[in-house]
Amino acid sequence: MSNYHIKHFEEYYHIYRKSINNPEGFWEELAEEHFVWHKKWDNILSWNFETPEVKWFEGAKLNVAENCIDRHLRTRANKTAILFEPNDPNEPVQHITYQELYNRVCKMANVLKQQGIKKGDRVCIYLPMIPELAVSLLACARIGAIHSVVFAGFSSSALEARINDSSSKIVITSDKSYRGSKTINIKEIVDDALKKCDSVEKVLVVQRVDGQVEMQQGRDLWLQPLLDEAEADCPIEIMDAEDPLFILYTSGSTGKPKGMVHTSAGYMVYTAYTFKNIFQYKENDIFWCTADIGWITGHSYIVYGPLANGATTVLFEGVPSYPDFGRFWETIEKHKVSIFYTAPTAIRSLAKESLEYVEKYDLSSLKVLGSVGEPINEEAWHWYNDNIGKKHSPIVDTWWQTETGGILISPIPFVTPTKPTYATLPFIGVQPALMDDEGNELKGNQVDGKLCIKFPWPGIARTIWGDHERYKETYFSTYKGKYFTGDGAFRDEVGYYRITGRVDDVIIVSGHNLTTAPIEDAINEHPAVAESAIVGFEHNIKGNALYGFVMLKETGEYRNQDNLRKEINQQISDKIGPIAKLDKIQFVEGLPKTRSGKIMRRILRKIANNDLSNLGDTSTLLNPEIVDSIINDVL
Ligand code: WTA
Repeated sequence: MSNYHIKHFEEYYHIYRKSINNPEGFWEELAEEHFVWHKKWDNILSWNFETPEVKWFEGAKLNVAENCIDRHLRTRANKTAILFEPNDPNEPVQHITYQELYNRVCKMANVLKQQGIKKGDRVCIYLPMIPELAVSLLACARIGAIHSVVFAGFSSSALEARINDSSSKIVITSDKSYRGSKTINIKEIVDDALKKCDSVEKVLVVQRVDGQVEMQQGRDLWLQPLLDEAEADCPIEIMDAEDPLFILYTSGSTGKPKGMVHTSAGYMVYTAYTFKNIFQYKENDIFWCTADIGWITGHSYIVYGPLANGATTVLFEGVPSYPDFGRFWETIEKHKVSIFYTAPTAIRSLAKESLEYVEKYDLSSLKVLGSVGEPINEEAWHWYNDNIGKKHSPIVDTWWQTETGGILISPIPFVTPTKPTYATLPFIGVQPALMDDEGNELKGNQVDGKLCIKFPWPGIARTIWGDHERYKETYFSTYKGKYFTGDGAFRDEVGYYRITGRVDDVIIVSGHNLTTAPIEDAINEHPAVAESAIVGFEHNIKGNALYGFVMLKETGEYRNQDNLRKEINQQISDKIGPIAKLDKIQFVEGLPKTRSGKIMRRILRKIANNDLSNLGDTSTLLNPEIVDSIINDVL
């Protein structure tokens, strides 16, 4: 029996038990059989969730890019590694074979070296979803540089904060980007960000659109001529198992984003193994994950997981609504996609359009459907199951986080019976625990609590870049000796998990994690604003949308409040990005506060969700009268 590929439910239980009873033995066997090592480990696992410290495969030597590309050349040189579907469906598709990917990655790696990048240097990548994006990640991995991808929808100040936090030496970007019918000048955003980034020496620019951008002499270089000159061979840098592979920022509750650090061996083993099983990947499958590589889902399940398995992975530049709402389904037919992985927010937005967009296309190539990023509601689940999967492609509702590197709770298709809105069972090696508010682990089934993980898995982030204390504080201090996820969950009568949502100040809007504090900071910088509080409210497409309660300095002065609303949203757009804009802004005379001065978001959340039945005791507030006035003006 192969532990690498789980095919039956009994096998799942058997392998799961093995992975819990003897984690070291289990992961060692898997790592040994399925990856290329230049030296084996001295120690499989050392860990301590209090310091906290986790090391997997310590002492081993490897290169992740070699595992994703070079080792496939013997058997898969002419197989498509990356299938690039451009924004414009009439633009030719690119089938990049493993051999071509090897050449392109080597050239890019040589260009980076030529520009002075060495092992351990940070390279910031701010690119649209074009092949150069995946190539840049792999080129960094090849030479041991640490990539820090910033989603190319982020604003210049968000980009600036991430470049400075990681002290990136180089930025790789493009002139402009296509997004549906729009063209965005992303080079301008980079120029703006770089006004305050001293660490950046060079900017490498891909020409994706017309090349009509300003180039700063001595700093900015067009990439293509450098690639044309570069050698198509570049030796790998031999890395230690625990050398960082990348930094990826996730939102933090203070203004500063958290740079999650993932290391080489454990991340590779975990993403490869989860990819293989959670999508039941087979050699001739065409796999399409619609996420952006700027998020962890794209890192793990567009680039590293699929390529480590020698798969064909689709890289889609466009949006689901361009040229019309049939784009996803058209693309599935066009490339005979067999595994399709998307987000509930995309499903909901397409479900509200006419079914004709779906029915026009032949979706019979599909075998497995996936969902990620937020809880999938029952209606969306059924729409996806009925209309896309035609009731015969199991839906894997995959729960995980930037911090976890790979999927932790999910059904295995054709193995685990699915249940709408349930992520079902822990993956191999994953030991969840539900905690009550007193810090006790809840035993048995039919319990609701805060979701923690008790034991390390190979893909866990090792630290926050430059701030280990914050890593400890955020994830390991709420429940002693356990990794706290920030999510709530329910365990049903058979032990299936249902994720109930965030229990902290993170709000998930269209699958993007947003923390309230930095958005409030952005609003409060507006000269007319005294104070603000943001909460989430239910939204039928985005899942959650943002509701802002804003108190002005002088309530009488700003009569034209719609303009003010626009200005506030512009301010958020500039500081964070358009994804963080507020759907509703209510101007209030005051915010409900506790006697110690803390804003009572719980009350505001209920008001925003029109749930006035149980506001709780408001008499203990510092200013109880304000609650009625806010309710009266609710939008
Ligand atoms: C939420 C995305 C319910 C959850 C991979 C988590 C989910 C956060 C699911 C991490 C799911 C992700 N069901 N909730 N299947 N998947 N989440 O870091 O709240 O962008 O903590 O990683 O998304 O978001 P992140």
